[in-house]
Formats: sequence, structure tokens, C-alpha cells
Amino acid sequence: MKNITLIKGDGVGSEITDAVIKIINAAGVAIDWDIQTAGADVIEQEGVPLPKRVIESVKKNKIALKSPVTTPIGKGFRSVNVQLRKELDLYANLRPCYNLPNVKTRYDKVDIVVVRENTEDLYAGIERQVDEDTAESIKIITRTASERIAKFAFDYAINNNRKEVCVVTKANICKLSDGLFLESARKIASFYPQIKFREILVDNCCMQLVQNPNRFDVLLLPNLYGDIVSDLCAGLIGGLGIAQGANIGSDYAVFEPVHGSAPDIAGKDIANPTAMLMSAIEMLNYTGEFEAAKKIKLALFETLNADIKTADLGGSAKCSEFTDAIIERLAVLS
Ligand code: NAI
Repeated sequence: MKNITLIKGDGVGSEITDAVIKIINAAGVAIDWDIQTAGADVIEQEGVPLPKRVIESVKKNKIALKSPVTTPIGKGFRSVNVQLRKELDLYANLRPCYNLPNVKTRYDKVDIVVVRENTEDLYAGIERQVDEDTAESIKIITRTASERIAKFAFDYAINNNRKEVCVVTKANICKLSDGLFLESARKIASFYPQIKFREILVDNCCMQLVQNPNRFDVLLLPNLYGDIVSDLCAGLIGGLGIAQGANIGSDYAVFEPVHGSAPDIAGKDIANPTAMLMSAIEMLNYTGEFEAAKKIKLALFETLNADIKTADLGGSAKCSEFTDAIIERLAVLS
């Protein structure tokens, strides 16, 4: 029996989490879930949105599956997600982005992996009100973090049979901060002659991704550009409902979908659980449950191929109906 932390967020979090747990159970994987809540709902009782118990649980179990947590916009508490990644030093945000079967998109054969630095940049949260009409945010880029994430991207490329790493910056404008990220990537690239290395500015990268995503393989980005570009890549393959993600550090790993708490569709049983399920599949692979991961992915793909889809993909299945359809197919595969 594996012990895994399950961080339950808010918004669509509980619907997609319940769906994914049901599917994992149906696949016969024995997991003892250590259920932890975080976000606005726990502030009243515990005073903070990310209580220490959540961090302690991940430290104990080493692995977590997490659903989205709302962050108030322009005011309120700091992002639970950013805090969690920082406290556990989950320095690599890994977001593989590829076409799923029978999900119609503008481009075929998209297969991009976004590797986003996860601990610094503008997400360090160092901001101040200089005066009533001026605010300031500080962008932190360090050599240590930049080299570490570059090494992660190149190791990932080697281990996953990828051909190219493309570093994405705005080093023409942010000459020192993005300049340091770029310089670090160049240095690490020199140790991996078998992997092609390319440099691109983030604005040009966005334009080219939209025009011809097949030109890209592994993208390596600082935190903010990585956040934005990974949503763009999600759009290329059918939207946030299917985009998976993982936060990986030296000691711990937290798997979660790219999307947020989607308050506009929460509580209606219409959210697509695929992004969370794909993240959970990678979590199962990470824990060595290769067979179960393979079976669940097959059942998911068969469900999509049978044209059973949620509304975000143009279908009419509810989240619960889509989940049941996957479980039915799993039963046949078992
Ligand atoms: P969002 O990702 O929650 O939603 C953007 C759009 O995608 C919405 O139209 C939503 O309905 C749709 N969408 C998202 N997930 C979907 C799913 N599973 N199925 C079908 N449609 C889906 O982004 P938004 O609205 O900007 O953020 C809402 C909240 O989530 C904010 O408080 C934000 O800070 C937080 N957030 C949390 C993240 C996390 O916990 N890792 C990541 C991103 C945002």
C-alpha cells in the first residue's frame, strides 16, 4: 500500500478529484490517501491557507496529487500553489503537452514539453507600493536556480528521447535577469552536445507556437513566461481541461493539472477531469505503477475515441458520466 498526500483545493477541485480517485480505485491500485485541505476554506479555522500539516504530509509521503486552489486576484493571501512549490523546493514545473485521440485541434502531432522554473522570477512575491501611484515587483533570477532547471530540462531530454531544448527569454530587454537565465542555459547546454540547443525570445516564441507548434520540442523557461506559455500550449491541444502538470524537486513531487479552480463551472458536474487524470497517470508512473498507468490511459483514450467528451471538448458528457465511461472500459481491460 502506497501513502500519497491528496491536496484537495476548491472550485472544480472536489469534482475532478473524486473522479480521479474513483478511476484509480477501479484500476486496483492500493493507495492510502492522506487527505489534506488547503486554500480559502481553511483560513477561518486555521488562520492560514496553507497550514504546516499540508507541508508535513508531503514531506512524509514524498508524493502528492493536488487539485487547484483559488488565489484571490489583486488582494488577499499569497498563492498556496507558489508557497507550496517554494517550501518543498519543487523547482521544476513539467508540463508535457501533446494531442489526445479524437480531440480536434488546429494542429496534429503537437508534442511539446514545457519545463518551467518554479521557485523564483516575479513569483518570489517581492512587491511594494512605492507611493500611491507606483507599485514595484522584483524579479529574482539566480545562477543556481537557472543552472538547476536547465540541467533538469537537458536530463529530461536525454531520458525521454527528445532532440532539442529551446530556451525562452526576454534577454534583449531584461539583460541582467533573463540574461543570466540564458547564460546558465548556454553553459549547461555545452555539457549535452547530443541535444540540439536553440534560443528564442518569448514574444517570437508565442507567435511561432501559434503558427507552427511542430517546430518545438522541449521548452525551457523562467517562471512567468513558463506559466503563460504553458497555457498557450494547452490551448494548442484542446484547452486547459486536458493539460497535465507536475512539480518536481530533489526530494518531493506534486502532480497537478495546469488549470486553476475554474470558478465559472464549479459545482455543475461539467468540468473535464482529464487534466487531473493525466497528472495522476504520471504520478502512477513516477511511483512505479506502470501497468495501472497504462491501463488508465488506454481506458481514457478509448473513451475519447468513443466520442464521449465533456463540454469543453465539444461533447455533452457530464464529469461523472465521463468518469463512469472510463471505469467501464477499465473493467474490460482488467
Ligand atoms: P482556470 O484555469 O481556472 O480557468 C480558465 C478557463 O478554463 C475557464 O473558462 C475554465 O472554465 C476553463 N477550465 C479550467 N479547467 C477546466 C476543466 N477541468 N474542464 C473544463 N474547463 C476548464 O483559470 P482562472 O479562471 O484564471 O483562475 C481561477 C483561479 O484558479 C484563480 O484563483 C487562479 O489563481 C487559480 N489558479 C490555480 C492554479 C493551481 O491551483 N495550480 C493554477 C492556475 C490558476
